[in-house]
Amino acid sequence: MQPLHLRSAGTSLVVSTHRGEAEISHWGADLGETLPDLAILNEPIPPSSADANVPAGLIPQASSSWQGRPGLRGHRVTDGMPGFDFSVRLRVVSATADGNTAVVVQSDPDAGITVTSHLTLHPGGLLELRNAVTNDGTSPFQVDELATVLPVAPDAVELLDLTGRWCRERHPQRHSIQQGTWVRTGRHGRTGHDSSLLFAAGTAGFGNRHGKVWATHLAWSGNHEQFADRVGDGRTMIGGSELLGPAEVLLQPGETYTAPALFAAYSDRGLDGITEAFYSWFRARPHHVAGPRPVVLNTWEAVYFDHNLETLIELAGSAADLGVERFVLDDGWFRGRRNDHAGLGDWYVDESVWPGGLTPLIEAVIAHGMEFGLWVEPEMISINSDIARAHPEWIVGPSASSYKDGGRLPVEWRHQHVIDLVNPDAWQYVFDRIDALLRDNKISYLKWDQNRDLLEHGHSGRASVHQQTLAAYRLFDALREAHPSVEIESCSSGGARVDLGILERTDRVWASDCNDALERQTIQRWTGMVVPPELVGGHIGPSTSHTTARTHDLSFRAITAFFGHFGMEWDVRSVTGAEREELKRFITLYKEHRALIHSGLAVRADAPDESLMVHGVVAPEHDGGIPAGATAALFAVVKTRTSFAEQVGRVSLPGLDPSRTYRVELLFPTPVDADYGHTIIEAQPVSWLASGAEANGRFLGEVGLPMPVLHPEHAILLRLTAF
Ligand code: DGJ
Repeated sequence: MQPLHLRSAGTSLVVSTHRGEAEISHWGADLGETLPDLAILNEPIPPSSADANVPAGLIPQASSSWQGRPGLRGHRVTDGMPGFDFSVRLRVVSATADGNTAVVVQSDPDAGITVTSHLTLHPGGLLELRNAVTNDGTSPFQVDELATVLPVAPDAVELLDLTGRWCRERHPQRHSIQQGTWVRTGRHGRTGHDSSLLFAAGTAGFGNRHGKVWATHLAWSGNHEQFADRVGDGRTMIGGSELLGPAEVLLQPGETYTAPALFAAYSDRGLDGITEAFYSWFRARPHHVAGPRPVVLNTWEAVYFDHNLETLIELAGSAADLGVERFVLDDGWFRGRRNDHAGLGDWYVDESVWPGGLTPLIEAVIAHGMEFGLWVEPEMISINSDIARAHPEWIVGPSASSYKDGGRLPVEWRHQHVIDLVNPDAWQYVFDRIDALLRDNKISYLKWDQNRDLLEHGHSGRASVHQQTLAAYRLFDALREAHPSVEIESCSSGGARVDLGILERTDRVWASDCNDALERQTIQRWTGMVVPPELVGGHIGPSTSHTTARTHDLSFRAITAFFGHFGMEWDVRSVTGAEREELKRFITLYKEHRALIHSGLAVRADAPDESLMVHGVVAPEHDGGIPAGATAALFAVVKTRTSFAEQVGRVSLPGLDPSRTYRVELLFPTPVDADYGHTIIEAQPVSWLASGAEANGRFLGEVGLPMPVLHPEHAILLRLTAF
């Protein structure tokens, strides 16, 4: 069989089958049209090893003497006895390609197992892999793991993955690849604050815009593992899998388990190339958000649980005056929900707080020309709720006997539990309640929250995170189908559910509960590695952050929120005078530039001074290019702390068309902010600031411009106009 060769946007994927099993012979730089006979790649047989070449299989197998992590782990249960067919020997049955999608079927007839792999290389270079295992036998087969892996080239010597916690999601960590397995495990029953949105291997010192990078993302919102596996012979695989609980997937004859999709990108120009592949894929989806992303006002940090119609109508009026376009009522509106100890599951408007229902507020919001959004947390239940009293058997626990019959419950988390969506009655109840809310009220947007880990998560006494995750997906899907115009945000105690599984059924993520602009610079930078800014909520919080107690001026908070889906989470009634005018100005600036921010290419400079973050967005050159006079790029120069040197030197503005001339000017602060500007800019500003600078893209990328000396935890915004 001929190898399959998929090519797109500078990437080649070669799947060969000449050794009987499928293997990825190359994933990396585009190889052009012609391939040699791939038998030339057969490895030498090292001493003290199997007497055969060992393929690094598409599904790595111990039966081929692969020494690393196997692709499929499982066993057959025959006559009640587990452990049979523990080692399969998959051989290619068919391998076909149609356009940029390949389908490889491998089977072991003796073990009664077939694995089907779908590989698609999307137009922007993003690779999508999906493996599925089918039980062809006559007795049940227990799947313990079905991993999806990719080989990386020998010059990939460093790993970068992301970790975090509540209010500090997606921070990077790096180290060299060593022999052995580096595993990032998520046992939260949700994606997790510490989940590695991107798992990247690269050449030594790879950076934002240099070096070769091979990166993966696992599209799954439940338990999972991501890993890099370097075996003794020097080969390295990276990949991921769903982390299955005991006997969570027991395939009956004829049944199939489909593993979560692994998305992957290769770049020979650093991490920005990886981002470009992801953004291009997101933006090509038919259901990707379209049109201007509305300015949001979320009530959480403005009023918390203190719901009062008069106050909220006032807040809505104040928001509308600023130019807000979507008003989101957060937690606290439903029966019994005066604090976070009660009410989850009782998805009825609390008549004691809202005697006229939500309608008076919604009407006021709509009369101001804004959309109305509502917070919900459909997967959760409070012990202190009518629904838990009526159906204690719907509360998830580890025991075979339900809570109703004295079964044990998992430890409480934010005083709440999980509702068993695998139970069809519970699922239907939740669907009906949210569906009714959406039917009875003019709601354009749901902030869908999920505020606890799924611990000891069982259904009828057996582990069921897998089933719960699928049931939650079905709930999102069914509600979207019933209410296609309602936008949904994925929130999970801030950013604990950010992945491509949930993003297939939602329109935005809440990156973090931390609105501190300094923390947000890092959180958004690494979330934005994969997820484009139109899908990443970023809000201006109060001047003193509620989660860190740091105080930042408005410009730093606004410039930070600017590069996402912009909004506020602040009692804006208290914003008056010059500060209110400045806030209005930022909202106007966002509206003027959001089309570019939400369609452009993300650019992150490799700033030599560690106190600086320089990032921007560059307009894509559509047919005919950017018209002269149009805004071609926006950059933020962010000073995170004091620098070692007296000045940070020249700062390069990369990613521009080398032959085009640009005019660079300060968008904020401008000369009219002269007084205010001195609180941002430490010393006399550099000469070009007053009237702007003109240079071509090559000069701006290679030489850069000297920047003013900024105070730490401040930022400036630059606009580049094309000539
Ligand atoms: C956690 C979310 O991340 C917050 O934004 C807020 O919605 C609260 N939950 C409400 O309980």
